[in-house]
Amino acid sequence: MIPRGHYYRDDVLEQEINCLFQSGYEFVCLLSEVANDKDFVCIDYRGCAVVVQNFKGELRAFQNVCTHRFNAIQHDERGNRSLTCQYHGWTFNSRGCPIGVEARVVSGSGGALDLCLPEYRIDTCGQFVFIKRSASDLTLPEFLGGYYAVLEEISQHLGPVTLFRSVPHKANWKVLVENVIDNVHCPILHRDTFVAFGFCRTPVEQTEIDGPHSSWHVPRVEIAREKLRARAMAHLDARAYKHNSFYHIYIFPNLFIASTEGASFYIGHALPIGPETTSLRARYLGPRVELKEAHRARQDVLDAQSEASGLRIVEEDRFILESIQRGVRLSTKPGAIVKGEPRIEAFMKTYVALMDGNASSRDKSSEAI
Ligand code: FES
Ligand SMILES: [Fe+2]
Repeated sequence: MIPRGHYYRDDVLEQEINCLFQSGYEFVCLLSEVANDKDFVCIDYRGCAVVVQNFKGELRAFQNVCTHRFNAIQHDERGNRSLTCQYHGWTFNSRGCPIGVEARVVSGSGGALDLCLPEYRIDTCGQFVFIKRSASDLTLPEFLGGYYAVLEEISQHLGPVTLFRSVPHKANWKVLVENVIDNVHCPILHRDTFVAFGFCRTPVEQTEIDGPHSSWHVPRVEIAREKLRARAMAHLDARAYKHNSFYHIYIFPNLFIASTEGASFYIGHALPIGPETTSLRARYLGPRVELKEAHRARQDVLDAQSEASGLRIVEEDRFILESIQRGVRLSTKPGAIVKGEPRIEAFMKTYVALMDGNASSRDKSSEAI
């Protein structure tokens, strides 16, 4: 069990960032979001301010802190603009160095090299872009283990991001993680959403745990409006990626990937802002399919429906998670994990092992499970 204090103590979050986040690979964005010159995505959480930016086709990751007077260079979560600070206008090149400022810098405050931004290594697996801030020689395939192939495969079927939304949660990031890998709450909390859509009525299947990462399929059963539903989705019948389930993948420490029958996708990214504050960055995506013009409007309706129901489920969970955050401070009990929650058990074992030692996230967590 993770002690209750680990859900609200500031010093624990500090340790987690070092032992769990920075020691492995940290997800930033999808390749499709930084496909064009000047596209950028930032991640911003405790001890981490990073921008991944496209420089004429080359992707670079830098600390998103101006080397002049420490302003954030990119302020938006994502967008398209040069890497130019909005305070005094310094522009940084693809090596992270400010262009043409050396002559203006007062001597003694550093030469040109000292004005360049710290750079981080970027690695990709399919569409998924990760950075590595530590100097360890852990590779991305080693870090992802069997999920490297899974992410590569699912990447081939991801369509465009149709909605990008950050949802603030007054809860510790681990409360969000434990929620998405919790098997039991779905039929109770999501009666009007998941259950109404035909999920969570039969036990989960194909639970896979590999090192710190895990997945399962939540099977779908037929619902009353099945024929209507089939008609609305008929234009997707020929899609290459199909499964009659909600397939959920957790990539340690804070990335959630879900496919609903291969017809719509969700990517959740839990950013630990503070010990009791997490920003859930939610991306909703359609499938990668060639659509006839006549089917475009139909797909737009499906995209809008999956975004709306997805956000509703996020809100159903958020209400409970914020209550948990209050309870974890008030309770004098240690809490419990019920039987049949292998993903939560795996997460907790990994967590404890990594917080106790200095081994790499992959080595230590594999030993732990
Ligand atoms: S703080 Fe960035 S240019 Fe001055
Ligand atoms: Fe939930």
